[in-house]
Amino acid sequence: MATQPKSIVISVQVLVLSLSVAVIFVIFLLFSLSSCSCPAITSTSASKDVGGGSESATVETGAGDRISATTEDIEWVKDQIRANGLHMQDNILRKGINPRTRAQQLQDLLQYKGISHYEGEEATNHTALPCPGELLVEEHHSNYGEPWAGGRDVFEFLAHSVKLVPDSWVLEIGCGTLRVGLHFIHHLKPEHFHCLERDELSLMAAFRYELPSQGLLNKRPLIVKGEDMDFSRFGSGVVYDLIYASAVFLHMPDKLVWVGLERLADKLKPYDGRIFVSHNIKFCSRLGGDECTKRLTHLGLEYVGKRTHDSLLFNHYEIWFEFRRVKG
Ligand SMILES: *[C@@H]1O[C@H](CO)[C@@H](O)[C@H](O)[C@H]1NC(C)=O
Repeated sequence: MATQPKSIVISVQVLVLSLSVAVIFVIFLLFSLSSCSCPAITSTSASKDVGGGSESATVETGAGDRISATTEDIEWVKDQIRANGLHMQDNILRKGINPRTRAQQLQDLLQYKGISHYEGEEATNHTALPCPGELLVEEHHSNYGEPWAGGRDVFEFLAHSVKLVPDSWVLEIGCGTLRVGLHFIHHLKPEHFHCLERDELSLMAAFRYELPSQGLLNKRPLIVKGEDMDFSRFGSGVVYDLIYASAVFLHMPDKLVWVGLERLADKLKPYDGRIFVSHNIKFCSRLGGDECTKRLTHLGLEYVGKRTHDSLLFNHYEIWFEFRRVKG
């Protein structure tokens, strides 16, 4: 009993102390925010893109954030790595960290479920979107188009090329597990990203893992299971700023690619809109240059040229073929 008031006094002192620390912190935060001319610095320094090479304009989203890293950003992160004396190490068992393969993670997930989990009937009613373990351990990140990080490179290249804004409309033909699409969905307004994909496993990964885990359910992308270049479920009203196919046309019969282009030509915004096709355009070159040009002209399309884009993270460049619509 006698010690009770004493402990209250200490608590009050602690309270006062923590309050003053909090006040000092808030003042410091406000000061650093007001003295930080970050947006001004970024908008002037953003003129030089790293990794792109071929782009000049900087794309800003509605929130004012840049899409590609600047030279200064790259220098900053290199400085952080240097200043912290970081070195790449083998991914082996070490104190406090227990690296495991995806297969081991999956096994643990199914067998042990971690330290805290519900048992019995309760196991089924506490999780809003129960996700299969295979998706939770991100096995689909290795399904195709790896490394996963390369999706960012594709996004940055395409976004710069069409001067992407949140209001843009984008259609991807074959978005797979959303390795690229996620970045578009993040930047675009709700419902502005459309995709046609035929692989069910990939679509499950997109809907059951990628969108919820990235907090993108509110972006309501229109992702449709289908094939044979059937775009009927996307409606007739939308005019796209960008239509792209990453490593998709090369797996299709030429005839089907042309059917698709015919269906898409009048869905592309005249002059400013772009169709981008990666890897090669054998559906065109196999016809011979003149015949291909004739076919494109007939559809109101024009081949703009071949572009390349360097990866930020690995020794790789992506090849893209650019088309636009010349008839209104
Ligand atoms: C889950 O189900 C159990 C058993 O029926 C019930 O007691 C519990 O209240 C439920 N919990 C939730 C969050 O609905």
